[in-house]
Amino acid sequence: MKPKILVAREVFPEVLERLRQHFEVDDNQADAVLGVEGLKARLAGKAGALTAATDPVTAEVIAAAPGLKAICNFAVGYNNIDLTACSKAGVMATNTPGVLDDTTADLAWALLMASARRLPAAERWLRNGEWKGWQFIQWLGSDVHHATLGILGMGRIGQTVARRALGFDMKVIYHKRTPLPAEREAECRATWVDKQTLLRESDFLVLLLPYSPENHHTIGAAELALMKPTAHLINVARGGIVDDEALISALRQRQLSGAGLDVYEGEPKFNPGFLELDNVALTPHIGSSSRATRMAMAMTAADNLIAALAGQRPPNLLNPDVLK
Ligand code: DGY
Repeated sequence: MKPKILVAREVFPEVLERLRQHFEVDDNQADAVLGVEGLKARLAGKAGALTAATDPVTAEVIAAAPGLKAICNFAVGYNNIDLTACSKAGVMATNTPGVLDDTTADLAWALLMASARRLPAAERWLRNGEWKGWQFIQWLGSDVHHATLGILGMGRIGQTVARRALGFDMKVIYHKRTPLPAEREAECRATWVDKQTLLRESDFLVLLLPYSPENHHTIGAAELALMKPTAHLINVARGGIVDDEALISALRQRQLSGAGLDVYEGEPKFNPGFLELDNVALTPHIGSSSRATRMAMAMTAADNLIAALAGQRPPNLLNPDVLK
């Protein structure tokens, strides 16, 4: 008999086909968000699950699924999973690092340029029929080339963003707790600075750190006040890292020139204050959303689940203490 698994959100048919070769699959192609109660109900009798960042794999969910052996997120972020509860219950947890670095870095750049050159507001203006003719002084934006790019959180995606800055002749500074090894810094042409210097000197500050309770509101009113009034803030990491209310206030008062955001505090909630601003570019959490990358993420999660339920160590195990 094949082990039973849950696929908690809609995935590509090819992924389900692959999983069905190994498992009896309970899918959710209708894509209803299951939440805690839905997950508890659907995980009963399951040995494993493919989950998304929207699925709260809490201690309560884990406790309700005694036969569970593996939770495999199809996301690099895993703040939706209670790793401690997983380890205590002997459940392996995995994510999908690596396969989405380039695609997410591309979106960071798209938002950076959209914010710098005021693309969303200019396009809205044109679509509204307000363009009456070319003017010399019209829709002036900020230069990206030769500006200072700051990166907070210099993991794989941060480094990928940094490498793309070479083509724009930018100075790159970054902050993370432990500086990168010298050869990696050289490869990224990036210089470590303390957080205050990063905030003060960046023309474009890109946030790429994982969400954890310690990172909650890492960028709040005090940090925004240190930034240049000409600066732009880009967040493709996670909501909650930025205090959205403080950011809205800074953008409204032009204490900051612009922002490009893909993630929001309390998703799927969205602060309507952003909609009143013309100096923010907004996307709906699509950082890794190209077909090829989403396919690679789902297939990586499937690889992890297949290995875990075959009694092997899954390639992207997040809680190795579970094997002790
Ligand atoms: C990730 O991989 O963490 C993305 O945010 C998609 O959930």
